[in-house]
Amino acid sequence: AALPYQDPSLPVPDRVADLMGRMSLDEKLGQMTQAERGSVSAADVTTYRLGSVLSGGGSAPSPNTPASWADMYDRFQNAALATPLGIPILYGVDAVHGHNNVVGATIFPHNIGLGATRDPALVQRIGRAVAEEVSGTGVDWNFAPCLCVARNDRWGRTYESFGETPELPSSMATIINGLQGTALDGPASVLATAKHYLGDGGTTGGVDQGDTQLSEADLRAIHLPPFRAAIERGVGSVMISYSSWNGTKLHGHQYVITTVLKGELGFSGFVVSDWNGIDQIDGAAGTSALDVRTAINAGIDMVMAPTGWRQFIDLLRAEVQAGRVATARVDDAVRRILTKKFELGLFEKPLTDRSYTATVGSSAHRALAREAVAKSQVVLKNSGNVLPLAPGGKIFVAGKSADDIGNQSGGWTVSWQGSSGNITPGTTILQGIRNAAGSGTTVTYSRDGSGIDGSYRVAIAVVGETPYAEGEGDRPGGLGLDTTDLNTIATLRAAGVPVVVVLVSGRPLDIAAQLPNWNALVAAWLPGTEGQGVADVLFGAVQPTGKLPMTWMSSASQQPINAGDGKTPLFAQGFGLTYETPDDD
Ligand code: GLC
Repeated sequence: AALPYQDPSLPVPDRVADLMGRMSLDEKLGQMTQAERGSVSAADVTTYRLGSVLSGGGSAPSPNTPASWADMYDRFQNAALATPLGIPILYGVDAVHGHNNVVGATIFPHNIGLGATRDPALVQRIGRAVAEEVSGTGVDWNFAPCLCVARNDRWGRTYESFGETPELPSSMATIINGLQGTALDGPASVLATAKHYLGDGGTTGGVDQGDTQLSEADLRAIHLPPFRAAIERGVGSVMISYSSWNGTKLHGHQYVITTVLKGELGFSGFVVSDWNGIDQIDGAAGTSALDVRTAINAGIDMVMAPTGWRQFIDLLRAEVQAGRVATARVDDAVRRILTKKFELGLFEKPLTDRSYTATVGSSAHRALAREAVAKSQVVLKNSGNVLPLAPGGKIFVAGKSADDIGNQSGGWTVSWQGSSGNITPGTTILQGIRNAAGSGTTVTYSRDGSGIDGSYRVAIAVVGETPYAEGEGDRPGGLGLDTTDLNTIATLRAAGVPVVVVLVSGRPLDIAAQLPNWNALVAAWLPGTEGQGVADVLFGAVQPTGKLPMTWMSSASQQPINAGDGKTPLFAQGFGLTYETPDDD
């Protein structure tokens, strides 16, 4: 006969209570531990009673196919089920713009582009599509959405923000309902994660993992609202930020985590640390006993200890046995984790639902992504109404990001940092232009613009940033185009042909000086695999409706520059042209 905790007809709290009553201390500590797939075996999951495994950015099985992901997931899950109590694991990934670790997955626009759509319902639909692709590979936990409020465009994670003012990320918390479904144990539901709590986008200088120097009133006003919205939408987990608040690491901040998040906001899910995030608490490298007890006592429930998970367990056991971490704290953490596992239905359906595996990269999901790409395009300049382009005649296309899936997808794509090149199936912006222009149009492409002459009626320069993620993308210096792009555009201008610039970037760039020489400018952000959506707007198949989620600087020296701060931008947050409103400048 099934034990009470194994009985799905019982209320979740009763199942949790029954299970906890059967758990040893080591079984509880195992539940609080998350290891990285490359540093843990299935046998380890069984031996150490681990509660969770993750894929870090780009960490995939070989071959990197949906089926082999599902096989990997099931191998780890079966190992968890082989423990005496058979508590299933949670497997976490960063599916931050599609199931981006998986080759062949649909890659959606990064959050900055979704913010430009001003369409929360669309973003919820994207959440549902991502949940299906993630579920099809077995994975049941997504470290998304990032609800950061990016205040300084120098930050390498600006593109992970839906907008620079809290109402935008708050409105896009709808993605949580897409990911988690109407019920956590519903078909293809995955656990969502509101991250990174708290104030990750507000650091001085936009330094990644830096110090957010704000009064409590300002921290609450600017950075807290999206987490309230996420909790109202039932988000199941919250990830803590690497950053500090007025010099204190968030990973060790009991007031912000326990008093505010769990107390005042009533968050009943569980709190997970970031990758080795607890190691930074004591200011020294590595994991110390002080790191461990401070993090757990601050209110962190599960620790992402990718490689050092054995050491973490040993240190925490010693802290509990020494009475420096109360068993009541351990029980609170384990209760929160188990509650989500029961609510997800993992005890009843622990293995991959293979009926979703074929949704990875499906044409339906790619069509949705194409719609999102089109809605994310922001037309910033259109003098002489050079846009929309008409088919026919001769069109020239140039630029390092015109025919590059990697560049148009940005960071967190196949690898952690992303990379230029043909890294995963999709439609480049150039291919999209060719499709939209049709067979009656001559479309000539040359990466650097060489070969252009006055016989072309228009030139499109697709330029901007190459992929980066997190601190690798911090830009403390200039925020302008690189010389490759400036040279490409100069080559096009020298032919005396109208130039349309399409900017593929994770943030506004410092382009005011060049703008007068451009006939049109479209912010494409980081559209992902469905570049057809960019062409849909360039050719008017879809009318541009995108609006800036971030203020566009007049110069990098203005950073940070945000709505309402009294500085004069090049374009204000909310700006975006349509093809109806002629641009008479
Ligand atoms: C990274 C990021 C976080 C991500 C985690 C796991 O360093 O800060 O957003 O979820 O580690 O990949």
